[in-house]
Amino acid sequence: MPSPQPRTAVLCGTGSHLPPRRVDNDELSRVLDTSDEWIRSRTGIGARHWADPGTTTSDLAAAAGARAVADAGVSEVDAVVVATTTPDRPCPATAPVVAGKLGLTGVAAFDVAAVCTGFIYGLATATGLIAAGAARRVLLIGAETYSSILDPADRTTSVIFGDGAGAVVLRAGEPGEPGAVGPFDLGSDGDGVDLITVRGGGAEQRLSGREPEPGDRYFAMAGKSVFWQAVRNMSKSARAVLDQAGWRVDEVDHLVGHQANLRILNRLADDIGIPRERSITNIAEVGNTSAASIPLALDQARAAGRLRAGDRVLLTAFGGGLTWGSTTLTWPEQATTRTEERT
Ligand code: COA
Repeated sequence: MPSPQPRTAVLCGTGSHLPPRRVDNDELSRVLDTSDEWIRSRTGIGARHWADPGTTTSDLAAAAGARAVADAGVSEVDAVVVATTTPDRPCPATAPVVAGKLGLTGVAAFDVAAVCTGFIYGLATATGLIAAGAARRVLLIGAETYSSILDPADRTTSVIFGDGAGAVVLRAGEPGEPGAVGPFDLGSDGDGVDLITVRGGGAEQRLSGREPEPGDRYFAMAGKSVFWQAVRNMSKSARAVLDQAGWRVDEVDHLVGHQANLRILNRLADDIGIPRERSITNIAEVGNTSAASIPLALDQARAAGRLRAGDRVLLTAFGGGLTWGSTTLTWPEQATTRTEERT
């Protein structure tokens, strides 16, 4: 008897959500010693969205998730995975709350914590659930309210990060079909723990016997060091995953890198050897939305008609941990034309 085809994850729906409050560089320049010119030239960012008081990560995640589920034309999933650095609470995870808000109480639900690499780690996790037969459909959401951990007085971080959510629905399918998620390259380096961090609020600080410093509750980043680590690790990881997928660099139609900084994305494209015009970027309007950045960029690029069925997409990310990861994806036909997802 022939052995059954291995199951893998196939993309069948996307969605995203941005909180309505748009904060442009001029607004920040009125409260911080910075300027539109500095922010644009160093980061490529012109504006970002920040959640209003009372709006949480689970609210943004549920809004994006609802759109992805509707886009996939399904009413049920078997698991909800939320990639986030800014969970609603340190305990419990945000995903069960999101599942509840979506009317999906009862399904498996948990968070993935890999900072800006969270969506790629989440994709690997969702693919694993499907390949293991533990789920037929997974809703994966990257969602962040970075505004909740930014030090309003810190111009080096406040200008970079934004809030938002992006989501995908993945279903069980076969490796060769359009929409199939390809191989993964994942990595980490805990020696870099201090380069991107929130020092306070965890066991390390609570068990130290020391009172937290005022700044310990805020996000801190060693920008310059992170810049080069991001370029180096994303390009190395992206090349590794292209090798695994058997794709030549010139066969990549779209590079979707973590939207960290436009200069990082440009260096990344140059290092891999992909023309910059094949790099999808939305950072000018949303800033760095960490775990939300790749699914948000995918959903917006799709809405803009930039992603066509059969296009070869290379995804790569880098973030705190340090962590990094890459995968490949062949863009699927419109999810709603499929019938098998509705079974
Ligand atoms: N406005 C004006 N000046 C600013 C500023 C701001 N918002 N932020 C920093 N500066 C100043 C610094 O204080 C420094 O001044 P000094 O020379 O008097 O000390 C000067 O600009 C240069 O700072 P530096 O940190 O060397 O700038 P940079 O060119 O490296 O750009 C970042 C800073 C943060 C934009 C850049 O390092 C970066 O994007 N890093 C990666 C960030 C990232 O994407 N992180 C997430 C990865 S997942």
